[in-house]
Amino acid sequence: MRILSVTSELHPLVKTGGLADVTGALPPALAAHGIDVRTLLPAYPQVLKAMRRHDVVIKYKDLFGAPARLLTTRMNGLDLLLLDSPLLFGREGSPYADARGLDWPDNWRRFAALSAVAADVAAGGIADWKADVVHAHDWQAALTAAYVRHSRVPETPVVVTIHNLAFQGRFEARIFPSLGLPASAFKLDGVEYYGGVGFLKAGLQYADAITTVSPTYAREIRTQEFGMGLDGLLRVRDSAVHGIVNGIDITEWDPSTDPHIPGHFSARSLAERKQNRKAAEQRFALKPGKGPIFAVISRLTWQKGIDLIIDAIEHIVVHGGRLIVLGSGDNALEGAMLAAASKYRGSVGVITGYDEPLAHLMQAGADAILIPSRFEPCGLTQLYGLRYGTVPIVARTGGLADTIIDANEAALTAGVATGIMHTPSSGDALKTAISRAIELYAMPARWQAIQKQGMRADFSWARSSALYADLYRSLLTEVKKP
Ligand code: ADP
Ligand code: GLC
Repeated sequence: MRILSVTSELHPLVKTGGLADVTGALPPALAAHGIDVRTLLPAYPQVLKAMRRHDVVIKYKDLFGAPARLLTTRMNGLDLLLLDSPLLFGREGSPYADARGLDWPDNWRRFAALSAVAADVAAGGIADWKADVVHAHDWQAALTAAYVRHSRVPETPVVVTIHNLAFQGRFEARIFPSLGLPASAFKLDGVEYYGGVGFLKAGLQYADAITTVSPTYAREIRTQEFGMGLDGLLRVRDSAVHGIVNGIDITEWDPSTDPHIPGHFSARSLAERKQNRKAAEQRFALKPGKGPIFAVISRLTWQKGIDLIIDAIEHIVVHGGRLIVLGSGDNALEGAMLAAASKYRGSVGVITGYDEPLAHLMQAGADAILIPSRFEPCGLTQLYGLRYGTVPIVARTGGLADTIIDANEAALTAGVATGIMHTPSSGDALKTAISRAIELYAMPARWQAIQKQGMRADFSWARSSALYADLYRSLLTEVKKP
């Protein structure tokens, strides 16, 4: 079976969050099911720099205003199709925004182009490789479903995966004539969305299957509270919606071999974690202490409950804990974190920016990771935490609720607890959870049992890739039915 995966991010080439981890790790896992995945990605400057051998498979004289080429290459063990359009993607830095963090005003054109090219590939644009199923990720690729429906191969099954319903790709109606879709597509059950154009909305409308990245989030997004305006449509499409929890790349995130950490360890022996803890203390200029080190590795945004963490910093410090933070995002939250670091020098360390090796060191050296998200489609940092013996402290929402077992008395007695869970959106609940962590940490046998239970949990892609394989197969049999 051949799958065309369409995405705006792919680890390790271009990443702003978990989307890249997923699109980078799922194809090799699908290969084990006999599935051949090619991934279509914009040829951003950093991607072109990393590219070696390649072939040109499609040439466009005019793709949304300028010449472009589709290149094929193999990088990092993945078969890639790179959309090389200097006009649209020849910009350094973030894939979505300028140096000041403002979204590029032509993002609609950039990602419509990506989606239109995906439909060209689906329609046989490349000699000897035709996709059986097209899998589009997030709003940047979601318009693929509309282009496929209005192409020469409208029956090609399309899966749209929602990684985060907060990002929808909404634009003014005036862009519609430039999209190259038939006028009839501008309708309520087409791309039209509250009088404008909705890229994700269009994807959800036209997709054969809609997936999101955990079963709980799949339920939540059909409610008004979490549906972000799309819950009505998702309820209409109820039978097409599936929740498949993300896996992690267990080779890249392996504490027994990780090249980014000084002390290698495993569930059998945690002793070497001490070295990583020391290295992390040094990186964040922490004073030595007896209490736990809490880590935050995150986009600094409202979704992630970063404001709740800021409010809890005094509580952490007063009770003997320390905090290390790596992240970037909202200016106000970044500023408040930096202010806390200077107020509680030696107990709180903050590094702003994006640093993949440092994220590994923090997972390997901290004692607990804080993820008090207001909503969380899946979340990957709690899964990396489990694998590295960093106990996740998470809000009971979305994928966090699906992947962590709270250390209540029953779970502790049964030997299945893997983390600490609290009510979402509540500063008091977060502080109580932090206190519970500090108490448990003071009982080393209990704490180690939680660490080891987490390390034994299997969140590799083995199970979830099988679910995607089944879904793709079910779509093919549906289509073939007379
Ligand atoms: P989201 O995709 O919503 O940001 P996830 O938990 O799914 O959240 O994925 C976040 C990914 O980004 C993880 O791989 C995490 O380690 C990484 N990450 C987040 N912030 C940083 C940062 N500042 N530096 C390095 N890695 C980061
Ligand atoms: C999104 C979500 C996150 C999820 C990731 C990968 O960025 O916010 O919860 O883990 O996508 O699916």
